Amino acid sequence: MFIEPAARIVGHVAVPGDKSVSHRSVLVGALSEGETHIRGFGRSGDTESTIGAVRALGAYVDDADDGELVVHGADLRDAAIDCGNAGTLLRLITGILAGRDGTWTLTGDESLSARPMERVAAPLRRMGARIETADGHLPLAIEGSPLRGIEYELPVASAQVKSAILLAGLRADGPTTVVEPTPTRDHTELMLEAAGIRVRRRPTSVTVEPGTPRLSAVTVPGDISSAAPLLAAAALLPGSDLTVHDLGLNPRRTGLLGVLERMGARISVFNRRREGAEPAGAVQVQYDELVATEVHAAEVPSLVDELPLVALLAAHARGRTRIRGAQELRVKETDRIEAVADALRACGARIRSHEDGWTVTGVPARLRGGRVDARGDHRIAMLGAVAGLASREGVEVLGAETVAISFPGFYELLDSLTQR
Ligand code: S3P
Repeated sequence: MFIEPAARIVGHVAVPGDKSVSHRSVLVGALSEGETHIRGFGRSGDTESTIGAVRALGAYVDDADDGELVVHGADLRDAAIDCGNAGTLLRLITGILAGRDGTWTLTGDESLSARPMERVAAPLRRMGARIETADGHLPLAIEGSPLRGIEYELPVASAQVKSAILLAGLRADGPTTVVEPTPTRDHTELMLEAAGIRVRRRPTSVTVEPGTPRLSAVTVPGDISSAAPLLAAAALLPGSDLTVHDLGLNPRRTGLLGVLERMGARISVFNRRREGAEPAGAVQVQYDELVATEVHAAEVPSLVDELPLVALLAAHARGRTRIRGAQELRVKETDRIEAVADALRACGARIRSHEDGWTVTGVPARLRGGRVDARGDHRIAMLGAVAGLASREGVEVLGAETVAISFPGFYELLDSLTQR
């Protein structure tokens, strides 16, 4: 797909429901006693994989007439589960199944099959789980077994690993504690608490007690990771003025807003409220000249999926931006450190990759443009699209359709906001 240069981004929008919260709502719904009514569920390639997974396990998932998704919990039966491209589904369901009666095999697409699984399997084995990986990767074989509660310090800042352990903890013989040196997204903890599970939250650790959740209703706020390309486009194009409404504003997800502010974009947050367990509100971005910034490890989990866009912003900001402590990007849907460096270089940016991030030398002017290969990664495709809008000559995005993994209507929505 060819993305033409744009003059500015103007308008008011809402984006699809948060992917992290959507996955969790269906998974916890499938474990729950009774029905779970989900409002604002974000339908996408990834979340369809989660619906397919819980159906394979014997749960019912129905579309109600009023747009809600209804999940009927069940005793999970043996199954072979295809997780598609969805890392969150794969990691979380491994924790869920480990302590239940039955045997399961988990598979996924080529990208998911290359992602590390020992980070989840190893702590679960310490709880007593019987999990086999293929040299640390898919396919996974799980034979359910009794679990004991443990205290586990995360060696990598990963909400997926934390969540897998906490969900396994629901079936343990006592409390399960995860210690996290750098706080990561806490949607699992918030949702389990809302479902009546005893959860103790401290600044750098969380403990769950065993129990059966009762998640009767969830409201899913808009996905800040899906809003991010729109917000970035507005921050890049002079004269832009964009407001995204009904957006999830969990403080462990809003790192991009802080970075945009530091770089000089004009950001306002208003109509702050709670949507069920999650903070929400509206975010307005108005263009202003951008300056370089620094992003360090402590900030990374709060914007881990937005870092490719930060590199693009940096290429248009006066000065040198350093982004470090982001080595986790190497094990996402693709090696995002190399994918971003190649993509931005192909558009004319000055960017150097490091083991754990990039150094970007920015110029407050449009990049030339060029050709960006998404490499099957939805976030790289969206990066290419925003780079195209902010370029002089446009960007050809190869594999553009992969945006449907997280945001099926992305190009149409972007187009509705774009003035040429
Ligand atoms: C997610 C956590 C992050 C993030 C992913 C979604 C989640 O992964 O990159 O897109 O829903 O828990 P890690 O926890 O592996 O960093």
